[in-house]
Amino acid sequence: MDNTQVSKKQKLFFSLVSYIAGIVQKLRNLRWRMKGYDVHPSTIMERNISLDKLYPAGIHIGKNCLIGAGTMILSHDHCRRGGDNIDAQDVTNPLLLDTYIGDRCFIATRSLILPGVKIGNECIVGAGSVVTKNVPDNSIVAGNPAKIIRTGIRMSERATLLNWSVDRGYFEM
Ligand SMILES: CC(C)(COP(=O)(O)OP(=O)(O)OC[C@H]1O[C@@H](n2cnc3c(N)ncnc32)[C@H](O)[C@@H]1OP(=O)(O)O)[C@@H](O)C(=O)NCCC(=O)NCCS
Repeated sequence: MDNTQVSKKQKLFFSLVSYIAGIVQKLRNLRWRMKGYDVHPSTIMERNISLDKLYPAGIHIGKNCLIGAGTMILSHDHCRRGGDNIDAQDVTNPLLLDTYIGDRCFIATRSLILPGVKIGNECIVGAGSVVTKNVPDNSIVAGNPAKIIRTGIRMSERATLLNWSVDRGYFEM
């Protein structure tokens, strides 16, 4: 058996785990929305995610995304102050910035999305990336700072790649 084949026993285990995870993820998503974050109900939020506490309404996450464990998404800055910057010590004047993740995106584990960034639809952010700039639709970014490593990807409603297979790798659709 090569490492891409899944045995019947593993399949059974995966379906049990995903059933339980599905319930936990729905509750977790609901909790984020109750706190004022703009997260679409269809999106899966894994464990240990940190969303900016100062400006919850500034975090926008679209439909059918998967936000990996340990991801942090920010919507304010400390050193840059809002308004006209007259008083840099004014604690009541943080710079608030709306941060967007589009539909059908996979934000891999332990990524950091900086305030004000807009990630398009059908995008992947590679594990451990620091996203400092906007990401165009249908692209993969990775690294610190995150750079585009692939374009033209297509993502499913489960935030998985449509135009990639084990045998063919990436292909045109
Ligand atoms: C981004 C990802 C999907 C791979 O995409 P890919 O298009 O197949 O990328 P490749 O493996 O062909 O790598 C292309 C380049 O990007 C780099 N790269 C890939 N992922 C990277 C990452 N997370 N951080 C930094 N660089 C990365 C590779 O080193 C390679 O660089 P090179 O061209 O200099 O050799 C994958 O690396 C990843 O991060 N997967 C997430 C895994 C995960 O989080 N699993 C938990 C599931 S919840």
